Amino acid sequence: MTEGLCPFFKDAFVLKPPKMSSLTIKMIMLVIATVCGVYICSVCLKQISNQTKSSIEVIGRPGIICETNNLNYPYLHYPQPETFSRAECAGNPVRFFVIITMQRSGSGWFETLLNSHVNVSSNGEIFSVMDRRDNVSSIIRTLDKVYNLDWFNSASKNECSAAVGLKWMLNQGLMDYPEEIVEYFNRRGVSAVFLFRRNLLRRLISVLANSFDRHAKILNGTHKSHVHSLEEAETLSKYKPLINSTSLLSSLKETEFTMAQALTYFNSTRHITLYYEDLIKNRTKLADVQDFLGIPHMNLTSRQVKIHKGHLREHIKNWIDVNKTLNGTAYEKFLQLDY
Ligand SMILES: *[C@@H]1O[C@H](CO)[C@@H](O)[C@H](O)[C@H]1NC(C)=O
Ligand SMILES: *[C@@H]1O[C@H](CO)[C@@H](O)[C@H](O)[C@H]1NC(C)=O
Ligand SMILES: *[C@@H]1O[C@H](CO)[C@@H](O)[C@H](O)[C@H]1NC(C)=O
Ligand SMILES: *[C@@H]1O[C@H](CO)[C@@H](O)[C@H](O)[C@H]1NC(C)=O
Ligand SMILES: *[C@@H]1O[C@H](CO)[C@@H](O)[C@H](O)[C@H]1NC(C)=O
Ligand SMILES: *[C@@H]1O[C@H](CO)[C@@H](O)[C@H](O)[C@H]1NC(C)=O
Ligand SMILES: *[C@@H]1O[C@H](CO)[C@@H](O)[C@H](O)[C@H]1NC(C)=O
Ligand SMILES: *[C@@H]1O[C@H](CO)[C@@H](O)[C@H](O)[C@H]1NC(C)=O
Ligand SMILES: *[C@@H]1O[C@H](CO)[C@@H](O)[C@H](O)[C@H]1NC(C)=O
Repeated sequence: MTEGLCPFFKDAFVLKPPKMSSLTIKMIMLVIATVCGVYICSVCLKQISNQTKSSIEVIGRPGIICETNNLNYPYLHYPQPETFSRAECAGNPVRFFVIITMQRSGSGWFETLLNSHVNVSSNGEIFSVMDRRDNVSSIIRTLDKVYNLDWFNSASKNECSAAVGLKWMLNQGLMDYPEEIVEYFNRRGVSAVFLFRRNLLRRLISVLANSFDRHAKILNGTHKSHVHSLEEAETLSKYKPLINSTSLLSSLKETEFTMAQALTYFNSTRHITLYYEDLIKNRTKLADVQDFLGIPHMNLTSRQVKIHKGHLREHIKNWIDVNKTLNGTAYEKFLQLDY
């Protein structure tokens, strides 16, 4: 889960042949030690040149980087916002995160849960605005502003944020510049929270229904992607989309492929992978998330109400057709009631 800090070290062990003389082993250990030393130094030098407080921390704990893959440094930051002073919380470290997800995967709900924490500022889908992701330099400028705590919206906790981040959809520039963005995440110590949905058929229904409502505006003439009452949820779920069974399999495959590709691109970034269904079924997963973000445990709450509940046959116009299309395929499980 938290790979990437000491790649040389790990690979050296993977490549180790079964039998070796003790001299060879000693030589290998020497090489490893040298490589790690150089690596630590380069990290320290980079930090010193950045004049951040965290560099002081690492100097105080030399060698720790190669002992464990799961350490706090370089994930602790002491941002100095240009727009305000962190006041009494200036000495509290801040972690940087990004929620990597797709539309209609529960990330709106998940983000309201996170933002109910007194020390979390998750700034929403900021890359939905085109000119923030025109090119890689506008992306980096935007990220710098967020992680420097200079980004403001209703989620900002300002002084006492202990974790700051945003929600980033795979189709909002993230997959267009993977190398530069991975480099940025790893250089700045950004942790990734992947949030996906296991049941991609349910996600598809939500995508179609949401896109229908964008024009139909079922709720009193306004389009809502998320609702706060059972009545609204019930009204929205009355619409049953017709699913194109000709393109269904290839569309599910494509979504699955995109998710796998994102996991591959960002595999060297410190990350945790979450599934919406697991969060719904098991609230203790939220404690894992808080541990991952290094924030004190709190009971997280959201006012959002789930829209499509119950069996899928109630939510698809051409259910028999869809059932037949997925019968006997790898996606057959999506037909079952899974939570
Ligand atoms: C990147 O996009 C921004 C905003 O649209 C623009 O001002 C800038 O000139 C672009 N930079 C490059 C290198 O294309
Ligand atoms: C969380 O926020 C509270 C209230 O603003 C603050 O007192 C506390 O120090 C913060 N905790 C962390 C870990 O930043
Ligand atoms: C619908 O809109 C009307 C007029 O704007 C408003 O009075 C009413 O409260 C709304 N109803 C709901 C359910 O939002
Ligand atoms: C269904 O998908 C097929 C294959 O992608 C496409 O050719 C066809 O036009 C689609 N039908 C509708 C009604 O959108
Ligand atoms: C990520 O890297 C780990 C360790 O190198 C590997 O086991 C895993 O299969 C990789 N995952 C993906 C999705 O590439
Ligand atoms: C719920 O999640 C926690 C933490 O991930 C795990 O230890 C526990 O086994 C899960 N419980 C169930 C019933 O799946
Ligand atoms: C969360 O709520 C449960 C029950 O409502 C309570 O027992 C627990 O102490 C709370 N935990 C925190 C960290 O507030
Ligand atoms: C489902 O597939 C099985 C074989 O895989 C077949 O015997 C059965 O008739 C199929 N059912 C439907 C409803 O198509
Ligand atoms: C799909 O169709 C088959 C055959 O008609 C039926 O036995 C099965 O219950 C259906 N699956 C679901 C999940 O409704």
